[in-house]
Amino acid sequence: MPTPSREIRLASRPHGEPTLDNFSFATVQLPDPQPGELLVRNLCMSVDPYMRGRMNDAKSYVPPFQIGKPLEGSAVGKVILSHDKSIPEGAHVLSMYGWREAFVAPASVLRVVDTALAPPSAWLGILGITGLTAWVGLFRIAALKPGETVFVSGGAGAVGTAVCQFAKMHGCRVLASAGSEDKLEYLRNQLHVDYAFNYRDGDPLEHLKKGAPEGIHVYFDNTGGPQLEAALYALNNHGRVVMCGGISGYNQPVPGPRNLMLTIGKRLRLEGFIVSDYLNEIPAFLAEAIPALKAGKLLNQETIVEGLDAAPAALLDILHSGATNIGKMVIKLTD
Ligand SMILES: NC(=O)c1ccc[n+]([C@@H]2O[C@H](COP(=O)([O-])OP(=O)(O)OC[C@H]3O[C@@H](n4cnc5c(N)ncnc54)[C@H](OP(=O)(O)O)[C@@H]3O)[C@@H](O)[C@H]2O)c1
Repeated sequence: MPTPSREIRLASRPHGEPTLDNFSFATVQLPDPQPGELLVRNLCMSVDPYMRGRMNDAKSYVPPFQIGKPLEGSAVGKVILSHDKSIPEGAHVLSMYGWREAFVAPASVLRVVDTALAPPSAWLGILGITGLTAWVGLFRIAALKPGETVFVSGGAGAVGTAVCQFAKMHGCRVLASAGSEDKLEYLRNQLHVDYAFNYRDGDPLEHLKKGAPEGIHVYFDNTGGPQLEAALYALNNHGRVVMCGGISGYNQPVPGPRNLMLTIGKRLRLEGFIVSDYLNEIPAFLAEAIPALKAGKLLNQETIVEGLDAAPAALLDILHSGATNIGKMVIKLTD
């Protein structure tokens, strides 16, 4: 019997800042799963900045969203009906079939997650791609060493809060920036970062000089823009920059740093990465993250928004300076 599912579609492509008009809602009737397939009802889904890039009709490392077609994103759901013996009914699975209530897919594209260990949303956040991004950036791209000083922009966001925590766990000194006072309070009082500042309050370089008079060894860049330029000044010789994201330029391109030449004299290394190239690191990452989470040394910080209808506004929100999310922005669909 067909199963109805509401989904969010791309209605039109934004020029600059997206609006709610760029999204539409539709209900589809899902067919019964065929042999090897499962019917899954999503419990929660992820809201990610990179989705903004997929709203453009541009060639990138992931294909653009298509007008009139549902958006995609990571989600954790419960298997309602299984026609594949590898995944039983009732199991929780991670998929890329978010931004819809339910879906039918082959078992081969789903990953079972253990919700006895951590709630479903944690598999989108600290134990999911978000946590992996922070961990790969710090330990595989920057090869962070204990005792080093790290600066992370977007420090109170999903990746940023994970960066702060992993770097502190490895005995590093951490500077973090964010766009609102409640985020700074969170960074100081809950994550115990060594110096937190509002990148909209004064010159970021003055903050970096104050928070790290001896300079920084690693800059974890989530924003690009003026903070990247300030970090290039603040980096010590042989410093490393983890080019993770450039959210300040996702809606409108921003000028590049004017001091890129410093990379030569200071022998800096700037390296971009895409986390999906590092899925083979999941076992090593989870071997550190799961015990730390269980021991309470690692927090799964998230901001939960209720209901599919609220998802487009949540995406628009995280693309703004001073967005409301602390930690991972998650849409809760059902229990
Ligand atoms: N390379 C990869 O494979 C990979 C994987 C995942 C994520 N990323 C990137 O990592 C970054 C963080 O992603 P996330 O999922 O953790 O998102 P997030 O940090 O939870 O949310 C985005 C945050 O960006 C900040 N922001 C928005 N506009 C800004 C601007 N103009 N200047 C400075 N900050 C701004 C907002 O916080 P404030 O209040 O601080 O302004 C907002 O909360 C993004 O750039 C994303 O694209 C890369």
